Amino acid sequence: MLTQAENEMMCRVGPGTPMGAVMRRHWIPALQSSELPHPDCDPVHVELFGEHFVAFRDTQGRVGLLDEYCCHRGASLLLGRVEDCGIRCLYHGWKFAVDGTVLDTPNVADPKFKNRIKARAYPVREAGGLIWTYLGPAHLEPPFPQWPWMDVPDAHRLNTFAMVPANYVQVIEGLVDSSHLSVLHITPLSQAGKSELDFAKKTEHMAFDAAPRIEAELTDFGFHYVALRDIERPEGRRIEARVAAFISPCFVANPNGDLFFAVVPVNDEMTRFYHIWWSTERKMGEEPLRSQQLKFVGLDEESLARHGMTPETVDGPRRLSRENRWHQNRNLVRSGHFTGIHSFTQEDAAVTVSAGAIRDRSKEMLSVADLAVGRLYRVLLNTAKRVAEGGTPIGIDIDTRSIRGANGSVAPGENWRKLVPTHRVQRGLESEPAA
Ligand code: FES
Ligand SMILES: [Fe+2]
Repeated sequence: MLTQAENEMMCRVGPGTPMGAVMRRHWIPALQSSELPHPDCDPVHVELFGEHFVAFRDTQGRVGLLDEYCCHRGASLLLGRVEDCGIRCLYHGWKFAVDGTVLDTPNVADPKFKNRIKARAYPVREAGGLIWTYLGPAHLEPPFPQWPWMDVPDAHRLNTFAMVPANYVQVIEGLVDSSHLSVLHITPLSQAGKSELDFAKKTEHMAFDAAPRIEAELTDFGFHYVALRDIERPEGRRIEARVAAFISPCFVANPNGDLFFAVVPVNDEMTRFYHIWWSTERKMGEEPLRSQQLKFVGLDEESLARHGMTPETVDGPRRLSRENRWHQNRNLVRSGHFTGIHSFTQEDAAVTVSAGAIRDRSKEMLSVADLAVGRLYRVLLNTAKRVAEGGTPIGIDIDTRSIRGANGSVAPGENWRKLVPTHRVQRGLESEPAA
């Protein structure tokens, strides 16, 4: 439970807010590479932390991220022409390069004028199928993160994202909450046994235990937590351990070990929920694996569009809302489906959005099952306070290559931390096991 002031501090990310200042100190995915599919393609609108930008890919394939509104007299550059290594504003023809250099000002006779001005442009890197940006002060730009999935060829990586009309913290909560899996997702989970997908096999056993034991520890990157479930094996009792890592301010490594999430605030009430699967052996990014995987979890284009979870549909009539009962089908419930909701992704989205765009955490009742959710609050509020006091955000000076989600079975009494030996736990700070 939080006070309303703490909840506001944790959730709001607009300019001038404490958490907004944290977000602007990190490299964050602004969009997917596939949204700018080729040189000189149409520019796209990007909203990030409540601010508006235009992204474009120039003739040489470089990506630019500029303020949406032209620095001359504010026309939207979304209307602009992308041509000849720059974007040209329609209104008076000023033309800008990806780094904000002004290339042309046809309505000003003085040819030197353009050299005296510059448009606001933000640093951009393209890696792992995502276009990343850093919106903070130039002198505080952190090292660019290196995640293992950035090293695999495109064909071995599956990038996708869903639009969720709710605050980013709500979306992250669902990712550090193992105990909802065998309740909310019981119907698709119980069908997982029939699937040949790696993802299905890795989640199948969770259907058997709705009350896993949870332990969580603060780390240098945020926190990690484990869900422990007893399983009976022919050789005796074993404990299935699933360890997830939350990397501040908005990243989660899933216990499956091959799935990473970036939970990016578009604004206070809208989230871009990026999923990245990767495999060194399998071509996850190619058919038929790509479609099989996406369909299994409800992230295929058709399912997302039907549930108002694409950029094109999220502001339309299909947007998840009370009016459409978050796309729940009560007939399906009556016929035995636990939720009456399409698949994993839509089940998560329905409960997340149904709590309200920014849910009121002064009115919740956390239990031992919510230990990791409490840690999430703690890390986010700590990093917001640190930055507000002039300190370094949590998750900046870290070795991203040492962070992972992991799962495996351990013997009773055996230490589950052997699954994540490279994580740097902040001992002494806080490391209490669940009751
Ligand atoms: S408003 Fe863009 S060139 Fe004038
Ligand atoms: Fe879920």
